[in-house]
Parts: sequence; C-alpha cells; structure tokens
Amino acid sequence: MAAIVQDAPHCLIWFGQCPEHIRQLLAADGWSLREQPPELPVSLSLRGHGMVALLFDLCSMATSQLPALLHSLAVSAQLPRLCVLPEGPPSSHRQWVPLSRQCDRVLQGPLQEQQLSDALLSLRGAGLPANPAPLDKLLGQSPAMLLTRTTVRKFAPVELPVLITGQTGTGKELAAHALHQLSPRAQQPMLAINCGAIPAALIQSELFGHERGAFTGALTRRLGLFEHADGGTVFLDEVGDLPADAQTALLRVLQQGTLERVGSHTPVKVNVRVLAATHVELEQAVATGRFRNDLYYRLNVLRLHMPPLAARGNDIALLAGHALEQFRQRHGCRARGFSPACLAAMAHWPWPGNVRELINRIQRAAVTCEHELIQPQDMELAAPGSPDAASEGPLGNARRQAERQALLHCLQEHQFNISAAARAMGLSRVTIYRLCRRHGIERQPATGALDQNA
Ligand SMILES: Nc1ncnc2c1ncn2[C@@H]1O[C@H](COP(=O)(O)OP(=O)(O)O)[C@@H](O)[C@H]1O
Ligand SMILES: [Mg+2]
Repeated sequence: MAAIVQDAPHCLIWFGQCPEHIRQLLAADGWSLREQPPELPVSLSLRGHGMVALLFDLCSMATSQLPALLHSLAVSAQLPRLCVLPEGPPSSHRQWVPLSRQCDRVLQGPLQEQQLSDALLSLRGAGLPANPAPLDKLLGQSPAMLLTRTTVRKFAPVELPVLITGQTGTGKELAAHALHQLSPRAQQPMLAINCGAIPAALIQSELFGHERGAFTGALTRRLGLFEHADGGTVFLDEVGDLPADAQTALLRVLQQGTLERVGSHTPVKVNVRVLAATHVELEQAVATGRFRNDLYYRLNVLRLHMPPLAARGNDIALLAGHALEQFRQRHGCRARGFSPACLAAMAHWPWPGNVRELINRIQRAAVTCEHELIQPQDMELAAPGSPDAASEGPLGNARRQAERQALLHCLQEHQFNISAAARAMGLSRVTIYRLCRRHGIERQPATGALDQNA
C-alpha cells in the first residue's frame, strides 16, 4: 500500500492503529497522520517539502510482523523514525531490538501525549525541515486546547476574517498572532488596536487615517492602521466597542476593500485581513442595536472560541509550571514548584481572569515566596472567608470593599454606561473594565447592565 504524502506540512506514518486521543494531539501539533498496516511494506511517494517521519507502535504488534517492519525501515532509510515499546522491563523487549536500535527515538509504552509531543518536536529541531511553530506558545494538552490549536491551523491560511471569542485573559491575542504567523501574510505586518481603549472621537483617524486639515490639530496627512498594515493583518481587539461610524467604515473595508481617510472622500484600496476579538457576546450587542448586523455577519465567518482556563483541567498545572519556569529563568527565585495543596487549590479556583490571572498570581508568589514550594496562600488562593483570606488584614478588605462600592455606585448613577462612568471617575474605560473584572462585576451586554456576581 502506498502512503501518498501530498503537500502536508508534516506527515507521520503510523505503523499500527493510532489511538483517538493521540490523533487529536497530532492534528493540533500540525501533523497529518497516515496509518500503515504493519504487515504491508511501506511504499512512499513524497510530494511537497514538509517533514515525514515514521512511528512504529510496537505495543499492539506480534513479533511475526518484524520482518515486514524491517523492510519498511530499509526502504525509508532517510526518514526519521520513532518506536513505542510495549510496557514491561527491557528484557521483555529483546525481540524488538533489531528495529528499536535503528530508531532516532525510543519511547516507552503506554504512550503519553506529552512524551510523544516532545519527541516529535525534537525531531523537527534536529536540523530537519522545520516549520516555525507559532502555536507552540499556545500551551495546553487538554481536549479544549487541542481543538483550539487544530482550529487555528485550519483558519490560518483562509483569507477570511476570524472572530475570536472568549473571556478576558484566555489567549485571544495570542491566537490572533498565531493565525497571522501561520497565514500566507506572515511576512507582512500585523497591527493590533484595542477598540475599547481609544477615545471614540479618535478611532476613525487611528484606523483609517486623516487628511491635512480634516480637524483642528490635523496639521499633516496621517495614514491609519489599515494603510500601515496593507498586505498584512489588522487585529481589532474588543471590536464590540467600535463606535457606529467606525463600524460603517470597517464594513466598507470588508465589503469593498477600500477606505476613506477622515476629511477625504477618495477611496483608497487596501488589502488587509481582519481578525477581531471580543469578550462580550456580539449577538447581544446586535440585538440591542449597538453593533451593526451586517458587520457582525462579515466578521463572524470563521469563529474561534478560546475556552476559559477553568475548563482546561491539567493545563492549569502545566501553564503554572511554565510560568514559574519562565520567571525563574528571567529573575531567579527560591520557589521551584508547587505544593500538592497549591496544585489542588489551583484546580478548584474559578480563574475569572484566566491565563493572565494565573501568570500574575504566579509572578507575585515567585517574588514573595521564601520556600521551595509555592503554597496556596503565596498565590492568594485561599477560599473566601477562610483564615488565609483574612490574613491580608482588615485594612485590605476595607479598601477593597470601598473601591467596589464606589465603582458600583458610579456605574449605577450612569446607567452602567462605561464611558460616562469613566469620565465621572476620572479613569480610562480600560481601567473601569479592569476594576469590574477585579470585583467580579460582569457586564451584561443585552441590557448594558452589569451583573455583580461577587
Ligand atoms: N495557552 C496559553 N499558553 C501560554 N500562555 C498563554 C496561553 N493563553 C494565554 N496566555 C498568556 O496569557 C496572557 C493573556 O493572553 P491574551 O492573549 O492577552 O488574552 P486575551 O487577549 O484573551 O485577553 C498573555 O501573557 C499570554 O501570553
Ligand atoms: Mg486581549
């Protein structure tokens, strides 16, 4: 049987039957899988220039299949190969030695996802044709994250907008960068803007530029983000905060590929792929008339949802270990790991701020912790009302309560209009959003009201 490898970036030829959970992992890591019946000699027809590797899953094989496997090895001598030995002591694998000693990596069964992932990554790094791996930054082995990485790979090469949804801190921006880097536009610029952080009066000019004299203070012509990103990608973060006139102008870019600088009616052609992110449900903004229906449909062709951290199981511990290791390498610190109680507390914490919150708490703990293992209290992960929560002292609690009260009061006074509340408190809208998050006050986009769940 011929395994015909087309233009796949990387192809793994699996001798035996690949388990379902490994299939998902391979797809997420960018491998296309070809299963090869072990008893038939492999015949390869290689097209494209991705990497091809062989994997011999010996766990499910009989020694009688060894000659066919050795033949397959001989005809593909130039390819990197791995084998997975059955469980048991080395003495029980003697019959496989003629094959295993010809392999670049020998893994011990039962096969662990991380072990396979690392082995394949090291094969790629061993001077073999390699793709840069922008997705390697999007860590996680949970089913939810595997699906996310697979989706990013599928969406990246398609010349359509992607709407990235998910709570704050779930990695929307990281995913947007991966989408750009894996796209044919990777060599062109990607420019990002947070639509919620720019005053409404300035956003048109930021995005589309302005002509000289367009408004007081416009002393020269200035190109906007879209023209600067021509040929590349624009990432519109918090796209739900775009004011109505900017929504209309964005729709024109998406429909006609043209924009008009502020103060001009001459259309300028631009070729930009738009990625947009939102932490509010745009459907509700559409229902209440705050977001254009037609723009929503244009943006929402491909939709990527970033799962909340609390739904990622063991990824929490994996991300925590990674964040601590990064901190250690950069700054050095006493802490080397987490106590079992801390790991348990992390697994139960609701993580309203998701990965960003996790990283912040670990950095804080790494600075203050004076022992080798980080404890729940170092990360301030104690349950509310427990003695540890109180250890911050009555003053800290009183301050927090006062801040929350002041914020709620102000929001209520301004019918939960974020811009108005921000003006009244002399803060930016971004800060108001941040405070709402900190105090568990969640914006309800349907009504514009806020829901306090703390
Ligand atoms: N899966 C992940 N693996 C590693 N780091 C992550 C992951 N997801 C998010 N992060 C990190 O968490 C922080 C918040 O991510 P970001 O993309 O800004 O989130 P969002 O845009 O959804 O608010 C960043 O420091 C980012 O690098
Ligand atoms: Mg963000």
